Amino acid sequence: MPTREEILQALEAVIDPELRKNVVELGMVRDITIREDAVDVKISLTTPGCPLRNHFVVAVRKALRGIGVESGEVSFDTLSPEEKSALQERLGMKSGLPTGGAAGALAGVSNVICVGSGKGGVGKSTLTVNLAAALASEGKSVGVLDADVWGYSIPRMLGLGAERPPVSPERKILPLEAHGLKVMSIGFFVAEDSAVVWRGPMLHKALTQFLEDVAWGELDYLLIDLPPGTGDVSMTLSQLLPQSRFLLVTTPQDTAQKVARRAAEMATKVSLDVLGVVENMSGFTTPAGERFAIFGEGGGQSLASELDVPLLGKVPLTMPLRAQADAGDPLVVVDPDDPASQAIRQTARGLIAATPTPELPPVLAGLPELPVMQNAPTTGASLPMA
Ligand SMILES: Nc1ncnc2c1ncn2[C@@H]1O[C@H](COP(=O)(O)OP(=O)(O)OP(=O)(O)O)[C@@H](O)[C@H]1O
Ligand SMILES: [Mg+2]
Repeated sequence: MPTREEILQALEAVIDPELRKNVVELGMVRDITIREDAVDVKISLTTPGCPLRNHFVVAVRKALRGIGVESGEVSFDTLSPEEKSALQERLGMKSGLPTGGAAGALAGVSNVICVGSGKGGVGKSTLTVNLAAALASEGKSVGVLDADVWGYSIPRMLGLGAERPPVSPERKILPLEAHGLKVMSIGFFVAEDSAVVWRGPMLHKALTQFLEDVAWGELDYLLIDLPPGTGDVSMTLSQLLPQSRFLLVTTPQDTAQKVARRAAEMATKVSLDVLGVVENMSGFTTPAGERFAIFGEGGGQSLASELDVPLLGKVPLTMPLRAQADAGDPLVVVDPDDPASQAIRQTARGLIAATPTPELPPVLAGLPELPVMQNAPTTGASLPMA
């Protein structure tokens, strides 16, 4: 068994996503118990109902595995008011420590994955719906949040039309369901083709509501379809959801280093981890089997190498992928054997492998339901709820 010092050193890899510092530095490692064949770690949280418990369990286990410790319990307590104010002072946070916010509302969601790209039209939305359906066919519970408030396309791609999401007696918006996926989009609230002008605070408020006021419930994955580019939405989401990770979509053409660099800069700018890269529009194979590299070769691999993350898949151009998106049925559901479907299903399996779910230790079983977090103070219009 490693020594206490070695364990502490390993735990420096466990970052509090909200405070953006490691738990050792933050003084949040309350207790380490070294047993014969296991190590138990107790972490002190800032709030009792901290939504990031799951994150800490995963991160502590990973850190311990790195030094050869395969078993043990991760448990939690709460910093005392004195400890909290000392920490707050040390961090120079006058307005108090963060308490979860939007991240809290998604406490039942194991993985939040933002699907983004350096430029538009590379297939983010198409891949989002098909990856979501592929994850669902692997037995995962999946939600899709369309965060492209300007050019939303998720409702159409999932065959959801004029229906408006119902509101529960608790005033939570219930996501619509399609192909076993929970779906939310601004498209459900605005008249088709109407141009909504999103000013900064309004955008922030709408995204906050999508996260906090929607009854997402328990999900293995929430995929968030981002608008193109590196704008406000990505910045806002990364603030609201520090635990989310990026999946970058690129075309083979993006060997142009500047696009790769822009995507890398986006990830750094919003300080979210990049989980991996998917190359889309990776060549076209004719029915006779002849392959054309219409958009060139190598962009996905070059971006993945630049970011030092895995290339999770290469999805070819196929007509059915486009046609089924237009028809509102994900191709992976309609024709799982289409070459694009196969590539997307493989990508989904790569995603699952890259996001292992922890077995929750007994101490987390039977926890009382988390309190509903109050909205962060934001200004702006509310979603036009029924
Ligand atoms: N592999 C593919 N094969 C064939 N058509 C594809 C493929 N990927 C995407 N498309 C088509 O390309 C178009 C753009 O795709 P999509 O809307 O998913 O891109 P996007 O990155 O979400 O765009 P935006 O940046 O505007 O949000 C769509 O018509 C879609 O059906
Ligand atoms: Mg899109």
